Amino acid sequence: MIELKDVTKRFKLKGDAARKRKTFTAVNELNLSWRRGEFISVVGESGCGKSTLAKMIAGLTEPTEGTMSLNGEPVRLHNQAERVKWARTVQVVPQDPYASLNPVRKVRSSLADAFLYHKLSTRQDLNKKMESLLEHVGLSGRETLDKYPHQLSGGQRQRLVIARALSVDPDFLIADESVSMMDVSLRVGILDYLKQVSRDRDLGLLFITHDFRVARYISITGKIAVMYLGHIVEYGPTEEILTNPMHPYTQSLISAVPLIAGRERRVEEVVPKSFELDNVDETYHGCPFAARCPFAQPDCLEERPVLSETVSQHHVACHYATARKMIVNQ
Ligand SMILES: Nc1ncnc2c1ncn2[C@@H]1O[C@H](COP(=O)(O)OP(=O)(O)O)[C@@H](O)[C@H]1O
Ligand code: SF4
Ligand SMILES: [Mg+2]
Repeated sequence: MIELKDVTKRFKLKGDAARKRKTFTAVNELNLSWRRGEFISVVGESGCGKSTLAKMIAGLTEPTEGTMSLNGEPVRLHNQAERVKWARTVQVVPQDPYASLNPVRKVRSSLADAFLYHKLSTRQDLNKKMESLLEHVGLSGRETLDKYPHQLSGGQRQRLVIARALSVDPDFLIADESVSMMDVSLRVGILDYLKQVSRDRDLGLLFITHDFRVARYISITGKIAVMYLGHIVEYGPTEEILTNPMHPYTQSLISAVPLIAGRERRVEEVVPKSFELDNVDETYHGCPFAARCPFAQPDCLEERPVLSETVSQHHVACHYATARKMIVNQ
């Protein structure tokens, strides 16, 4: 199990951005546990810190504060050898497969690197292993190896980067908005494939998306974490979150998706106030959603609500979620 404890990532700002404030906290004292075989969707609008969270878990960027552990042992990623070792535990499937593939190298050479770098194959076995991996993701092995990325379709490229991530046989896989750039017609196929391969290999799957419909599709038997400005504001089993959202932010997102809100019937419509990211004050310690929340009370500005369990495994970070629920249900 991977556990994040009070993990924070603060970026130092430069240039114009630094005039208003010197730092920006992209992920703020975040706690999360993630087991093998567990599917978690992380949902939130652009800029809420999803990719930063993914990069920290994958060891691609270091947290400013907080700790990460694997099966209770602290994970240290201070040097290259530790990061290489960690890459065999967690892999990321990037959002844009084209940008992550070198356009002037054939698939054979890009894929071989991963195998040889991690010493997962000898040179003699390399072709056989690469072909079998490509076939495993539904690509024709020999033919694909001799192609350049631009000779593959969008769906094939997505499968290729999934294959590359799987080549190191990780225990955990992070898919960062992995279908957001794809045609709707291709999406379902890739999502089904990701689910299948993760189940077959008992992988933990962290699926990052801004789309609740995709989150539902991926983690129907798993969990959803809703992120807002670097915080997880609501977390719990997918069906429970979708049918019974308790945080005003989650309610606003779900009530804006007719397909889910209609089907799940009574999600109260919540319209958040408008808001400028530039106005976020780094010294503020109240509820991160207060500036947009139609239900904010004076104490919301003073005290940050912690993520706590309300009913079975449903966690919410709002001082008034339970009280509002009782009023709505009366
Ligand atoms: N290297 C960086 N320097 C400064 N700010 C950054 C950097 N990377 C990300 N950010 C900021 O952190 C916030 C979260 O970014 P990101 O994790 O990419 O969000 P998401 O993936 O949810 O869209 C954004 O406001 C973004 O502008
Ligand atoms: S704590 Fe207050 S401001 Fe924050 S979401 Fe709840 S009601 Fe709104
Ligand atoms: Mg992102």
